[in-house]
Amino acid sequence: MISYLLGIDIGTSGTKALLIDAANGAVKTSATTEYPMSTPQPLWAEQNPADWWAATVSSIRSVLRGERIQVNQIIGIGLTGQMHGLVLLDKFGRVLRPCIMWNDQRTAAQCATITEKIGARKLLDWIANPVLPGFTAPKILWVRENEPQVYSEIAHILLPKDYVRYRLSGVFATEVSDASGTALFDVRQRCWSAEMLASLDIPRSWLPESFESPIVSAKVSADAASETGLIEGTPIVGGGGDQAAQAIGAGIIRSGIISATLGTSGVVFAATEKFSVEPEGRLHTFCHAVPGQWHWMGVMLSAAGSFRWFRDALGQDAVTQARANGNDAYEVLTDLASTASAGSEGLIFLPYLSGERMPYVDPDARGVYFGLTLRHTKAHLVRAVLEGVAYGLRDSLELMRGMGLYITQVRASGGGARSALWRQILADVFDSEIALANVTEGAAYGAALLAGVGVGVYQDVAEACAHTAGVTDPIEPSADAQKYAASYPIYRALYPALAPCFKQLSAID
Ligand code: XUL
Repeated sequence: MISYLLGIDIGTSGTKALLIDAANGAVKTSATTEYPMSTPQPLWAEQNPADWWAATVSSIRSVLRGERIQVNQIIGIGLTGQMHGLVLLDKFGRVLRPCIMWNDQRTAAQCATITEKIGARKLLDWIANPVLPGFTAPKILWVRENEPQVYSEIAHILLPKDYVRYRLSGVFATEVSDASGTALFDVRQRCWSAEMLASLDIPRSWLPESFESPIVSAKVSADAASETGLIEGTPIVGGGGDQAAQAIGAGIIRSGIISATLGTSGVVFAATEKFSVEPEGRLHTFCHAVPGQWHWMGVMLSAAGSFRWFRDALGQDAVTQARANGNDAYEVLTDLASTASAGSEGLIFLPYLSGERMPYVDPDARGVYFGLTLRHTKAHLVRAVLEGVAYGLRDSLELMRGMGLYITQVRASGGGARSALWRQILADVFDSEIALANVTEGAAYGAALLAGVGVGVYQDVAEACAHTAGVTDPIEPSADAQKYAASYPIYRALYPALAPCFKQLSAID
């Protein structure tokens, strides 16, 4: 009998359920159910955990309905999802307020208080990272200060995917990769940080038990079985935060091969067997979903998001032309960009359109075109955007190189990586081979592979990753790499020079 593994991804815009054949890793089917995000105030981002659960039930049901499979063929479940979100439950397991999400920026004051109280160095020692507004701990303090009634009823704190685990099983559990993004986790020891909890006065009893990612953490309960159609007792492994699970799905489990994701945000991700922290905390150091491994991650907030901004703000003619020709506006714009020369004739774009997260933690940072002259045309403007994003990703890459990482290959993924021109620019700016990662199913695929390890189909994560799709279209750096090597130091100099002006600008906004 064929066996299937189910990956469930509680994403920012919807829940995806994905079924893969355990024997060969082939995707059988998937279904996604969307839900809204609300912004009750500027900089806030919230979602209702009840919506995640309803979407999970609906996606699982449509996967089960759509294909001729017996539900008892599903032998394991892996969960993944958006990281850092704060879900608060009372002692009856009821949700106390909407989830404060990863992209919510309301906690600048709480981050400053924590950093002042504990000290930046000690934070790196305790939790391997600085405390950033998106992370979970400052959100708990925000609730304590602003919603004391809610705070007084807290009995459990969960991350988004772990709330879905609770609904599936009745068990409060998490795993090390997602827990790493709470700012309450001792990433080196792979357990909750007693120091951090004591210092912030957060009871340990509120936090779930933490597992390694491929370990079975819970089983589907009778209630959840009748709601979802799954079989009671189906094992659920720890799973992983979306970035770690996506890396598993792309086979990023050894140092040397790193991934660069050109989604709305841009992520550079590297696995490492050795625990170490960037001395100034300019990279995230989190536990990987591979036991005994960690990962470094640089996250820029506007990568393909910058290109989308360009299309929407300045590319309306491309949209119209694409509509007439039945192709894509991004293709029209990259064709245009390819007519400008490398370096965009001295035009440099800073992609900080929604502030920045790494390597500069600065919500006040802004986008900039630097070096405009009368010679510049729209072709230069669009090419400069693609180049500026590549420089931004290189910032993270350089920090990793500085940590002693020897890079053998960069695997590009995400919507932006579909553009061959953008991949060539990345190869030139990084001065490294870029290959296209054939990952279409993202984090849910990695979560399903982790489930396969947990239930013993695969001996370990490395064996599971033998099923990942691999890469195509390797691109080598071209002669243009030299031009970018000359422009990159100027890009690097611009943020420090402009940071005080960004601050002044945001004060008068
Ligand atoms: C990771 C991060 C995002 C969110 C949403 O640190 O902030 O990947 O998990 O996708």
